[in-house]
Amino acid sequence: MRQSSLPFVAALAATANATSSLTDVCTVSNAQAALPSNGTLLGIDLLPSTVTASAVYNASSSAGMGSTSTSTTSYTYCNVTITYTHTGKGDTVVVKYAFPNPSDFENRFYVAGGGGFSLSTDATGGLAYGAAGGATSAGYDALNGVSYDEVVLHGNGSINWDATYMFGYQALGEMNLIGKTIAPSFYGLSSDTKIYTYYEGCSDGGREGMSQVQRWGDAYDGVIVGAPAFRFAQQQVHHVYSSAVEHTLDYYPPPCEIDKIVNATIAACDPLDGKTDGIIYRTDLCKLNFNLSSIIGESYYCAAENSTSLGFGFSKRAEGSSTSYTPAQNGTVTAEGVAVAQAIYDGLHNSAGERAYLSWQIGSELDDAATTYDSTTGSWELDIPSTGGEYVTKFVQLLNIDNLSNLDNVTYDTLVEWMNIGYERYLDSLQTTIPDLTPFQSSGGKLIHYHGESDPSVPSASSIHYWQSVRSIMYPNTTDEESLEALQDWYQFYLIPGGAHCGVNSLQPGVWPADNMNTMIDWVESGIKPSRLNATATSGTYSDETQQLCQWPTRPLFSDNSSTFDCVNDTASYDSWTYTFPAFKVPIY
Ligand SMILES: *[C@@H]1O[C@H](CO)[C@@H](O)[C@H](O)[C@H]1NC(C)=O
Ligand SMILES: *[C@@H]1O[C@H](CO)[C@@H](O)[C@H](O)[C@H]1NC(C)=O
Ligand SMILES: *[C@@H]1O[C@H](CO)[C@@H](O)[C@H](O)[C@H]1NC(C)=O
Ligand SMILES: *[C@@H]1O[C@H](CO)[C@@H](O)[C@H](O)[C@H]1NC(C)=O
Ligand SMILES: *[C@@H]1O[C@H](CO)[C@@H](O)[C@H](O)[C@H]1NC(C)=O
Ligand SMILES: *[C@@H]1O[C@H](CO)[C@@H](O)[C@H](O)[C@H]1NC(C)=O
Ligand SMILES: *[C@@H]1O[C@H](CO)[C@@H](O)[C@H](O)[C@H]1NC(C)=O
Ligand SMILES: *[C@@H]1O[C@H](CO)[C@@H](O)[C@H](O)[C@H]1NC(C)=O
Ligand SMILES: *[C@@H]1O[C@H](CO)[C@@H](O)[C@H](O)[C@H]1NC(C)=O
Ligand SMILES: *[C@@H]1O[C@H](CO)[C@@H](O)[C@H](O)[C@H]1NC(C)=O
Ligand SMILES: *[C@@H]1O[C@H](CO)[C@@H](O)[C@H](O)[C@H]1NC(C)=O
Ligand SMILES: *[C@@H]1O[C@H](CO)[C@@H](O)[C@H](O)[C@H]1NC(C)=O
Repeated sequence: MRQSSLPFVAALAATANATSSLTDVCTVSNAQAALPSNGTLLGIDLLPSTVTASAVYNASSSAGMGSTSTSTTSYTYCNVTITYTHTGKGDTVVVKYAFPNPSDFENRFYVAGGGGFSLSTDATGGLAYGAAGGATSAGYDALNGVSYDEVVLHGNGSINWDATYMFGYQALGEMNLIGKTIAPSFYGLSSDTKIYTYYEGCSDGGREGMSQVQRWGDAYDGVIVGAPAFRFAQQQVHHVYSSAVEHTLDYYPPPCEIDKIVNATIAACDPLDGKTDGIIYRTDLCKLNFNLSSIIGESYYCAAENSTSLGFGFSKRAEGSSTSYTPAQNGTVTAEGVAVAQAIYDGLHNSAGERAYLSWQIGSELDDAATTYDSTTGSWELDIPSTGGEYVTKFVQLLNIDNLSNLDNVTYDTLVEWMNIGYERYLDSLQTTIPDLTPFQSSGGKLIHYHGESDPSVPSASSIHYWQSVRSIMYPNTTDEESLEALQDWYQFYLIPGGAHCGVNSLQPGVWPADNMNTMIDWVESGIKPSRLNATATSGTYSDETQQLCQWPTRPLFSDNSSTFDCVNDTASYDSWTYTFPAFKVPIY
């Protein structure tokens, strides 16, 4: 049905576009006239007197984290801002839109994700695709760069629930709803003109995308999410886990020792996929066949350096850069160092030995395990990542402080308890793991979900666990073959070999998906369903080559250093990616 209506839509668009120019449409009165009448959008009162509209010429387009657009073209568009209030609430939310030149508009709307605790502040990411786009203040000045963790507490003990729900899913949903409702009228098109609606984002932008699929499913046609930082309670506390391992085992490895363990693991596991190319295409084979203990005794050396840390870039508060001195590190890998790495890769278990969470794939960098050098004592000490520490202080303990100062009396059970508190408290706002996607699926939505296999921030297995949850919840009574076929018809998942967090891994320089939006547009608008995902490299072994990534659950396997890999089924591999979390009494999707 969707496809048969396409030519009609295109014809309408062509007619309207031919008759109007940017200066015709980019006026306050045209934007005001495009607003739906009060009461049309339930709970949203648009304030016509607040509308601004101004043409922006020759600007560059900037998409959010996870965009693969490499467009360097400059764009001319109409910048429209509107303030609305929630009915009866008296709050104000500002939304801003970038409407392409009428001759460039292809009846599309594009929503971009942000990262860390920030929503996207840029509305122009869709211009490269002939799409209007938008961004939102979320009611807390997010358009001016205010990040949600700065406002999550009104004060100690007092959660800002308005900001929490707006950041969680509501602000993007409303921005999209308003934008795609006014777009046809803005361009003089019939109000029932189909506006194809896309989402693209990675990291928290991936979580935001999943929030849209889960909460506003019928409002999106094509959603591309990378490395979603969802299952928020577990994900955020997991950022404290590496420090808790060091604290529990009372061993604080010099960073060079940890780096050596990672490098040696990559070297040992690279060939297991059938090709020695510096990239682990099969972390599952590494997990099943490689023993980290074999690294004990290998020597490492890192020269002294003065390094400037830019912070984690996760929280605005962690932004301040600092310069620190790191002495030369020269030694051999210890059993203690390997025990730390092994425990981190194994993932969090409670004191009864029950699994609470999964972890990064073996061979991933161990960024969260970085220790800090104390020049007065000459020793390496605990350095709690603010990504996790800030979550615990603000979201769990409800104290307006930026990080945990120590892990005194903190055990693995404490981490599980923190996860439990966050899970229950934010289950309907931040957790973002609703596994029933029926509204999205039944309205024709398509989802491409990808994850760097060696992501050191959001574990790639975390994505697979959600994919498995959706599969089992939506297709409970079917054979594996049937559920797989049904799911892949609208939800496809791809692991990116060697990939880091939302980008190429400097330790395993491989490919990255190059053209997700065009793949998605082809799928949504022309019915061309992908079965593999194109990925390219800008440097390293595979530069100037397009690889076609294997769609999960098939896995890549080179035979005898061949130039291309096959996509194979491997039950032992699949099982190695499959987890249950008995440390919690409720199902963790
Ligand atoms: C829209 O309707 C609400 C009541 O539903 C009213 O309070 C508000 O003033 C109206 N807004 C405008 C702009 O007419
Ligand atoms: C935009 O760029 C075009 C092409 O370079 C140029 O002709 C035009 O004058 C520019 N417009 C503005 C408003 O700068
Ligand atoms: C868009 O309009 C708003 C409101 O007038 C303004 O604050 C903003 O700077 C404009 N953006 C651009 C890129 O011109
Ligand atoms: C690990 O490998 C990277 C990339 O090859 C290199 O820059 C780094 O010095 C190595 N570190 C150690 C400790 O071997
Ligand atoms: C790894 O090797 C060590 C030392 O040989 C051994 O104690 C340990 O059981 C091995 N681990 C696994 C998972 O086989
Ligand atoms: C680090 O900075 C200090 C002070 O500027 C300088 O004396 C020292 O040589 C530097 N060390 C390295 C390894 O760059
Ligand atoms: C590291 O220590 C070993 C053994 O003490 C020594 O032989 C080697 O020269 C040292 N390497 C560097 C670069 O200092
Ligand atoms: C909030 O709690 C922290 C930790 O107890 C304390 O340091 C801070 O002063 C408190 N803030 C206010 C405004 O009371
Ligand atoms: C840790 O636990 C001990 C024993 O229960 C207690 O005396 C101490 O005050 C605790 N320390 C912190 C920082 O909570
Ligand atoms: C699945 O099978 C169970 C047991 O046979 C049945 O109770 C349930 O209704 C079925 N669910 C669906 C969605 O068909
Ligand atoms: C993998 O298994 C699925 C069914 O579970 C099957 O449809 C598919 O053809 C298999 N692929 C390969 C490459 O054997
Ligand atoms: C994927 O790459 C192949 C080979 O380079 C190319 O023919 C195809 O058009 C690409 N597909 C998309 C959707 O870009």
